[in-house]
Amino acid sequence: MTGNRGFGIDIGGSGIKGGVVDLDVGQLIGERLRVPTPKPSTPDAVAEVVAGIVREFGWTGPLGVTLPSVIHRGTVRTAANIDKGWLDTDAASLFAKNLDRSAEQIVVLNDADAAGVAEVRYGWPGDQRGVVVLLTFGTGIGSALFIDGVLVPNTEFGHLEVDGHDAETRAAASVKEDEELSWEQWAKRVSRYISVLENLVWPDLIIAGGGVSKKADKWIPLLDVRTRVVAAELRNDAGIVGAAAASAVLVPPRPPLGS
Ligand code: BGC
Repeated sequence: MTGNRGFGIDIGGSGIKGGVVDLDVGQLIGERLRVPTPKPSTPDAVAEVVAGIVREFGWTGPLGVTLPSVIHRGTVRTAANIDKGWLDTDAASLFAKNLDRSAEQIVVLNDADAAGVAEVRYGWPGDQRGVVVLLTFGTGIGSALFIDGVLVPNTEFGHLEVDGHDAETRAAASVKEDEELSWEQWAKRVSRYISVLENLVWPDLIIAGGGVSKKADKWIPLLDVRTRVVAAELRNDAGIVGAAAASAVLVPPRPPLGS
């Protein structure tokens, strides 16, 4: 650990962003750096950009990195909106190799899980006990599930089947753009999606994140759902902040009993 600072990198479809985070308050210290995501976004090309960003800041401590993927025990298991070459990659080892350091210093987690960690720790100030779901509406739909503030990783609620469709293909923010939907039309789709989700996990609160949360007043009031929905407080930097926070709480797993 480097005092109360951490370092986070958020890998998205269009940009890779990184910066130093004040872990006491969950805010960037100074500017973040953004580099366009290489095309194609292969693991090697992306890892090179990640290493470049870390070096630019001269950061030598632990770091957190997000990917828009299921990360199961460090291995990338899905690649819905990134290069398929990521599948089965041991992401922490890949980043570590490029940075010439040990993989134990790097935590890799799903982008929505990271945004959720940031939001639960530093964001929405109301009651976050019980079942809280953070949803990110962007190119896809990301999800993070918390039970009394503890993350249940890799929920992937964006891929729930809703009326025979993969939910994010109907209700992501990118679909609003692509199909030129009005706020009302899109809010209807989001409502339908949330209704399916809320019958599954009965959340106490839903926090809506992603770029479109900047315009929360245009669509959250239009939602027709049972659960209270609030807009995320942390906007673009939630992934960086959450990744940094996750790396700071890295603890080695307990050895099996009897060993
Ligand atoms: C991916 C998730 C990701 C979300 C937001 C989905 O397509 O499956 O892992 O969190 O997009 O990027």
